[in-house]
Amino acid sequence: MPPTLSVIVPTFNERENIAPLIEKLEAALAGITFEVIIVDDNSPDGTADLAKQIAAQKSHVRCIHRIGRRGLSSACIEGMASSAAQFVAVIDADHQHDEAILPEMLERARDGADIVVGSRYTGEGSSQDGFSASRQKGSQLATRLSGILTGKALSDPMSGFFLLRRSLFNQIVPRLSREGFKILLDIIATGNRQLGRKLVITEVPYTFRPRFAGESKMSALVVAQFLGLIVSQISRGILPTSFLLFSLVGASGVVVHLSVLTLAFEVFGFNFANSQLLATLVAMTTNYLLNNELTYADKKLRGRRFWTGLLSFYLVCSFGTLANVSVASVLFEAHIANFIIAGIAGAVMSVVFNYAVTRIFTWR
Ligand code: GDD
Ligand code: MN
Repeated sequence: MPPTLSVIVPTFNERENIAPLIEKLEAALAGITFEVIIVDDNSPDGTADLAKQIAAQKSHVRCIHRIGRRGLSSACIEGMASSAAQFVAVIDADHQHDEAILPEMLERARDGADIVVGSRYTGEGSSQDGFSASRQKGSQLATRLSGILTGKALSDPMSGFFLLRRSLFNQIVPRLSREGFKILLDIIATGNRQLGRKLVITEVPYTFRPRFAGESKMSALVVAQFLGLIVSQISRGILPTSFLLFSLVGASGVVVHLSVLTLAFEVFGFNFANSQLLATLVAMTTNYLLNNELTYADKKLRGRRFWTGLLSFYLVCSFGTLANVSVASVLFEAHIANFIIAGIAGAVMSVVFNYAVTRIFTWR
């Protein structure tokens, strides 16, 4: 018999937190059949090993040990996808979310809510203790932004603490983005669209606690991925977040290119062809580094694969430039477009080409 509830705990370097968290969950969920699924991305601190040791002793604990991949959203998705329970919940490993409200969240879902969100901002819920002042401002801004997507029905769409019917998750999982930190927002926006109605969302307030042990993984990267998700959702998922980030990186490459070109040609007095070659190489390299850190943080290339990736990136970009120049020339010479439109069409062509082909050859 599958348990009633699977509690998914995504972890990255949370070794100190998991054993006491499991004990808190056992106390909170007494009388409910449940399992804990720890989804660890091969944390250097050995979280997965400890989780497996606990799993060997407790039949209601499992560990999914992912190797070669990083990412909070994709970890949550994989955990939920591995569940056979009627309901699934996601909770952070660091004890910031109050596990004591899980039974109430389960009740609300049984009463018919599509998604129940543990919320820091409704009623008694407070976020004062767990966050720094700047992080609170950022969090409020992100909340307002995402109201655009969810129709303002939610006071805490950024929450990483929620519960839903697994059948609903199964319906929408093929269309979830997998990128970044904001899995709940993605589930709601995708669910609304897939089911053709507004999901019934209930919030249960709780007090956000300070981290029990370890450090937060929130970063500038996470913020960029969040903005990418918003634009991607506004485009109704037609433009994937990674394409938007790839284009953004491409735009930064133009700036790098022009700066190096100016410096080499004007300041150092290289001839134009050599200056152009140098600028191209530098811009391709910064583009590669940024895409590896930002766009494909979840598939980041390291070691030997970093260098073969760089080579394949150079190669793809060379063909991309060829595509750019040919498309622009054809449009211009056939008098289909003036030189500005033809130039833009060529640039768009090469971004699409580079994006598609590097996804096949570089960041597989
Ligand atoms: N598997 C995996 N892979 N887990 C991850 C990764 C990853 O790449 N990055 C973070 N995690 C895990 C952490 O180990 C932790 O259990 C949980 O995800 C949340 O990460 P934190 O680093 O503690 O994030 P936070 O506290 O700054 O933000 C969290 O809480 C907010 C408030 O609910 C996130 O859940 C936010 O989405 C949420 O808004
Ligand atoms: Mn946290």
